[in-house]
Amino acid sequence: MTPEKLCELAKEPMTHSYSPYSGYKVGAALLCTDGTVYQGCNIENAGFTPTICAERTAIFKAIYDGHRDLEAIAVCGGKDGVITGLFPPCGVCRQVMREFCRDDFLVYLVTPEGYETRTLTQLLPDSFSSADMH
Ligand code: THU
Repeated sequence: MTPEKLCELAKEPMTHSYSPYSGYKVGAALLCTDGTVYQGCNIENAGFTPTICAERTAIFKAIYDGHRDLEAIAVCGGKDGVITGLFPPCGVCRQVMREFCRDDFLVYLVTPEGYETRTLTQLLPDSFSSADMH
């Protein structure tokens, strides 16, 4: 699975987005080490707080299915589904990645031209994790 292909797979779930409040359609494609891909979209709620992001939808689908070895995620988003720039993971999604992913977990941020690459450590330095539960 190439990063380019994973970024393409992140765009399709934007069409599944339930986002009547913000109008932002977000898609994610999560690559497991065994090659399995889980896609996710954002799902909003009138109560706002219960809204779930595309990244967490994909990660929780994988965890539910017993996939714990996660390699990379591609993320894209934009108003009305139009990608005009990076759509970086929110802090809550970064913390969920921290729970299940290694420091070198790759995050591909889709741009109109292609993608930019970050590691989880770059996105969430000095993070709190299970290693700090002592
Ligand atoms: N959103 C995501 O899906 N992923 C992120 O990491 C950032 C935000 C969604 C949540 C909400 O439905 C919309 O984008 C606007 O915040």
